Amino acid sequence: MAALIAPSILSADFANLERDLNAISTADYAHVDVMDNHFVPNLTLGLPVFERLAQVSPVPIDAHLMIEDPDRWAPAYAEAGAASVTFHAEAAAAPVRLARELRRLGARAGLALRPATPVEPFLDLLAEVDMILVMTVEPGFGGQSFIEGTLPKIRRARAAVSASGLDVWIQVDGGVSRSTIERAADAGANVFVAGSAVYGAESVPGEIEALRALADAAHAH
Ligand code: DX5
Ligand code: ZN
Repeated sequence: MAALIAPSILSADFANLERDLNAISTADYAHVDVMDNHFVPNLTLGLPVFERLAQVSPVPIDAHLMIEDPDRWAPAYAEAGAASVTFHAEAAAAPVRLARELRRLGARAGLALRPATPVEPFLDLLAEVDMILVMTVEPGFGGQSFIEGTLPKIRRARAAVSASGLDVWIQVDGGVSRSTIERAADAGANVFVAGSAVYGAESVPGEIEALRALADAAHAH
């Protein structure tokens, strides 16, 4: 299980997004946070900006939609070229139908859970998704502290995926840094989003490499 690193451009310079995407060319994905000021109390960017990011990104784009009514809006992100589109379980009216639509459009389908949302009600959907995103902070802002209380949920999600025999990825997002990534990896996460840790580092490629090495070492134990 090779660790995948997905830096979040929420911590990039929004006046220099192409430059800051090129800075993470050694990452596995570029994580793009779409917020609508309704599902979360923050507003980032929408489809017109996203389409351009997908055109210029040196790495595949992992869209994290923190929006209301993803049933209506998420497919356009797949059509815009996202390699992966993750919508929130709390916001989707028909998650299975939406996941199938995203896959039909050629994207990986991800299901995100807020820290307080249990994974158990969604375990019957495992065959319908490619990734479960366990939020390790309350969604909305970068630079928050990793919520340690989410580790048991990551473990339960990983145990269910292993038992199913399906290749569903488990992503963590929020407060991921050199000091927390090993615990998340040990709990069973294999995709790691990091915003402030990567873009706040002295060397962006150096930080991506360091995070990947720590996660790979934790998996090897
Ligand atoms: C928060 C976003 C995250 C955010 C993570 O709601 O989903 O992707 O950028 O930022 P850090 O890594 O700084 O906690
Ligand atoms: Zn995110």
